[in-house]
Amino acid sequence: MYQQAAWVISVVFILFVIFVFLYVVAHSGQRSEYEPIQKKGYRIRNVWFLVVIAAMGLATFYTLRDLPFERPAHAADPTVVQVEARQFGFVLSRNEFRVGEPIAFQVTSVDVNHGVGIYDENMELLAQTQAMPKYTNTMYYTFEKPGTYQVLCLEYCGIGHHVMTATITVVPSQEGEGKKWKRTFGR
Ligand code: CUA
Repeated sequence: MYQQAAWVISVVFILFVIFVFLYVVAHSGQRSEYEPIQKKGYRIRNVWFLVVIAAMGLATFYTLRDLPFERPAHAADPTVVQVEARQFGFVLSRNEFRVGEPIAFQVTSVDVNHGVGIYDENMELLAQTQAMPKYTNTMYYTFEKPGTYQVLCLEYCGIGHHVMTATITVVPSQEGEGKKWKRTFGR
């Protein structure tokens, strides 16, 4: 949906720029008095300045008022997973987890900066961090649904950036399976 919106907005802006360009070309032969145009321009500039300040103020207010982001409390004893990013792939020390299992991904890189983003089946971003050489960033996450998740690189890192992917499989938790078993066979 955002993808759709992004390209529609891009096309509208491109058409707008083309329109402005054509307008300027069509009117470039005309001669007119400079003074009134300059006055009008300055007036527009003053109003535009206030509009931009107001828009930026509002945007800042609505986007920053949640800061600092609450750090989700993480379990004392999470499953520790090493994630090593490299041109062009990820090496995960483990890639199958249970629903509800708290995980601490310890993310690093062996070459350049990469990003690590975990996406669900609808390609919605669930968690992300940077993979940096000589640093380890810990990303805590607990999967809530079983399924197949994608790990994608979020930082342009070279010619093979787009092929940097990995897959994570999440299986139902033991309790969940126990309940299902009882429901099926427990009478
Ligand atoms: Cu690694 Cu982009």
